[in-house]
Amino acid sequence: MPTTDTPLVPIPGPRNIEWVGDAKTGHLRLLDQTVLPNEVIYLDCKDVQSVWDAIKRLSVRGAPAIGVAAAFGCVIGAQRDEFDKAADHLATSRPTAVNLFWAIERMKRVTPCTPEALLDEAKIIHAEDAAMCQRIGEHALELIQQLKPQASSLKPLSLLTHCNAGALATGGIGTATSPMYLAQQRGLPIRVFADETRPLLQGARLTVFELGAAGIDVTLICDGMAGQVLREGKVDVVITGADRIASNGDAANKIGTYPLAVMAKHHGVPFLVAAPSSTFDMSISDGDAIPIELRSSEEITEGFGSRTAPQGVKTYSPAFDVTAAELITAIITERGVIRPVDAEQVRSVVGSTQ
Ligand code: MRU
Repeated sequence: MPTTDTPLVPIPGPRNIEWVGDAKTGHLRLLDQTVLPNEVIYLDCKDVQSVWDAIKRLSVRGAPAIGVAAAFGCVIGAQRDEFDKAADHLATSRPTAVNLFWAIERMKRVTPCTPEALLDEAKIIHAEDAAMCQRIGEHALELIQQLKPQASSLKPLSLLTHCNAGALATGGIGTATSPMYLAQQRGLPIRVFADETRPLLQGARLTVFELGAAGIDVTLICDGMAGQVLREGKVDVVITGADRIASNGDAANKIGTYPLAVMAKHHGVPFLVAAPSSTFDMSISDGDAIPIELRSSEEITEGFGSRTAPQGVKTYSPAFDVTAAELITAIITERGVIRPVDAEQVRSVVGSTQ
């Protein structure tokens, strides 16, 4: 298990994933992220289908959190002597985040395949993710301070992020958000611009919610405003998470990340990706091989209940895009920083991830 030099920074806000009870009769409790920030509601998942549904509808979301939830879902399958069926079914819930498949493969290697042994492994995956977040934060903060050493209380370090790669998306303090929490804990002045993240508003609903709850200075912008904010020189560093990173460093993340990387390059602003080694897919040579999830048209035309486009309009809704390695200044993992981002550096820092 990765270790950290410092005690774990406490996770802000409500816990997103929790196992309740013992291995044989317990269940998975998930924070329903679809209703945040208005309501804090928990879902008690007592069968595999309810875990699958929660992943599919984004009640639990974010690559690492999806993997952790699926690992606990496998325990529920084993409670009914249906581990294989559960593992296969959970793997069909969402296609892009490789952490889902990584966690399920890890659960398949557990012997004996009993609820007790599987629960132990799921809890280890969960705890490891928390430690990885913290390590990522330490590496990221060090790198950011190297890139932008001039931050002072008069001019706080200014970060821009997209979607939610935060505590809600992981077992710990997030990936892209981990240097923010560490900076705050160490008294380093920072401010954060959060893209709203169309169409499901993970930035507006989740990132602003959790950073705000932690007392971090966060400013919400619409996705289309990021170019102007960069042009005005308001951003020192852009930092996002990732759902799957190919062996050459091409990185899939929430739709809207790729244009942000292009704009950051245009304005000479470093573009960083923060992700654990479990997000790397070393079996694929580049981002073209990453499966991109397509979501329903309703999420664009009547998201959150109110219709905003004519009935029957044609839609196309890829949930993720791929940012080419050449647009990424560095990828920060718990094992170290990949810079420059290319196949050789990915191999030397991440090695074999499984
Ligand atoms: O569709 P989502 O909300 O699951 O997408 C989440 C993202 O794209 C995150 O940036 C990514 O999973 C990294 S989370 C640490």
